[in-house]
Amino acid sequence: MVLPDHLSGTTAVVTGAAGGIGAALAIELASRGMSVVAADIDADGARQVADDLQAAGRSAIGVHVDVSDSESVRTLARRTHAEFGSVELLCNNAGVLLFGDVAESSLADWRWLASVNVEGLLNCLHAFLPGMRARQGWRHVLNTASTHAFLPDPRGTALYSATKHAIVALSLGLRGELGGEGIGVTVLCPGQVGTRILDSQRNRPTAYGERAGEPFGTGAIPMAIAPSRVARDAVEGVLRDAPVVFSLPEHGHAEFRSQVESMWQLTGDALRDHIGG
Ligand SMILES: NC(=O)c1ccc[n+]([C@@H]2O[C@H](COP(=O)([O-])OP(=O)(O)OC[C@H]3O[C@@H](n4cnc5c(N)ncnc54)[C@H](O)[C@@H]3O)[C@@H](O)[C@H]2O)c1
Repeated sequence: MVLPDHLSGTTAVVTGAAGGIGAALAIELASRGMSVVAADIDADGARQVADDLQAAGRSAIGVHVDVSDSESVRTLARRTHAEFGSVELLCNNAGVLLFGDVAESSLADWRWLASVNVEGLLNCLHAFLPGMRARQGWRHVLNTASTHAFLPDPRGTALYSATKHAIVALSLGLRGELGGEGIGVTVLCPGQVGTRILDSQRNRPTAYGERAGEPFGTGAIPMAIAPSRVARDAVEGVLRDAPVVFSLPEHGHAEFRSQVESMWQLTGDALRDHIGG
């Protein structure tokens, strides 16, 4: 395999790397010659991913991190710099999902979702960006949002969708801020991937209250695509500096397209009401 020059020999940090999309990203990036820091609140899982990569001759370490805790993220950054010296690719991928009506959900539900999905991402940017900005050469940030950021009627997942809207907005804003410094930003929007996302509350700290209802159980997502496919789509998007990358099963393409069109239709109708045309 021909390794892209600018990936080989560089370092990636992947959060949420103990399983699912994060582990697949770690494997994909390591296979392209990057050193990989697999970081997760599930420390054993992260170390297992790194051990497997090392056994395959790759360069990787597995590290505990709770992305919602800024000190924990700073410790991860120190460990990463001590081990590899620099970070060229930051993959803010750790994320959690819960279901519930907006009106019925508890504030604790929201705080937990937002603490991981949104504040976790900000904590990682604050800890890693200064070092990345101080360097020259190829550097990139990959943020995992979701197709849920584009649904016109996110009943049951509005809280989760709101956090993923936030990630899209933060990513596009950051892309504008960092573009002049030569640092790319890509927002990854997967849909229906075969991971443990339905069992997200396995990682919910008791400080954030009772588990929300799990109407679809905690098992596998049906008719899902493999995390490895998402990781490939994501890395190819990063390499061409795409602002947004979608990765979802073929059987869902037509429905998703019509959902996105309904979403824009809402705005289009309102704009026509307001300014005519
Ligand atoms: N699976 C899907 O269909 C799908 C679709 C769209 C977006 N996503 C997004 O993809 C990302 C990865 O999820 P996944 O589907 O691989 O699910 P997953 O549950 O398999 O992986 C999520 C990982 O994040 C880790 N994590 C949770 N809280 C953390 C914290 N506070 N600090 C550090 N790590 C933490 C978990 O331990 C887990 O390893 C998430 O951001 C998710 O929202 C998934």
